[in-house]
Amino acid sequence: MDVYGLIGNPVGHSLSPPMHEAGYDELGLDATYVTFEPPADEGAAAVEAANRLGVAGLNVTIPFKQDVLDAVDPDPLAERIGAVNTIDFTGDAPQGYNTDAVGAVRALSHHGVALSGTAVVVGAGGAGRAASFGLADEGMDVHIANRTASKADALAEDVPGATGHGLDSLGDLLADADVLVNCTSVGMDEDATPVPAPALHGDLAVLDAVYSPVETRLLQDAASAGATTVDGAWMLLYQGVEAFERWTGETAPVEAMNAALRAGL
Ligand code: ATR
Repeated sequence: MDVYGLIGNPVGHSLSPPMHEAGYDELGLDATYVTFEPPADEGAAAVEAANRLGVAGLNVTIPFKQDVLDAVDPDPLAERIGAVNTIDFTGDAPQGYNTDAVGAVRALSHHGVALSGTAVVVGAGGAGRAASFGLADEGMDVHIANRTASKADALAEDVPGATGHGLDSLGDLLADADVLVNCTSVGMDEDATPVPAPALHGDLAVLDAVYSPVETRLLQDAASAGATTVDGAWMLLYQGVEAFERWTGETAPVEAMNAALRAGL
């Protein structure tokens, strides 16, 4: 049996096990997916241990995404983002990938959103970094807006063609934008939004990385403005789908994985 898993701290609330297990069941794969919670300063050691134990693949979440870079051979995208969320142990050395970037791209594509024109990414933390690289690599012009504008500027220097801004620029930036992605934690378990409702419009597609609640205030405001809305569970789903496909070499059963994920939300 192939053992896959997730390392994070904490991982207790993770929806990845039911999502991946549903995929294995659907395809009849002899595999299982479990969670591991090493101490916060032992991410790299945990990856080395997993490799020796014959674990087939690991997802990596907070606080280990940067720490494990040293324990793997990162692919070019993971290296540029500076974070690894997926490790494949089946080669000579552990290979590191970042499927968060592709997760955002595939979540939007699934909803028929054209990845051309201008994207506004709100937030310059780990999620904002991954989404910005993903959208820029698709050829979009990316504007990053963050509460701490200097962090948006610093991220924009790394992302091809991107510009950095404070949140006070959101109105101007969104007027001409095609895609908006919220990568801040604003709206998580609260009725709040990082984007003023009047800045939203019907030509936008809005992806919220927050998935608790699924229908965030931002997505409700976006729907009222006539925008296309994509909830954060799609982004969570597609980072998992991308990892599943890298590990198994199979096309992931997206519908089964989506149903299992949403049943847990
Ligand atoms: P993640 O890895 O999920 O992206 P993170 O690295 O902690 O998490 O980043 C959190 C993001 O949410 C940051 O962009 C943060 O803005 P700052 O860089 O200014 O801290 C943003 N954020 C968190 N709380 C916020 C709030 N109340 N208003 C606006 N932005 C907020």
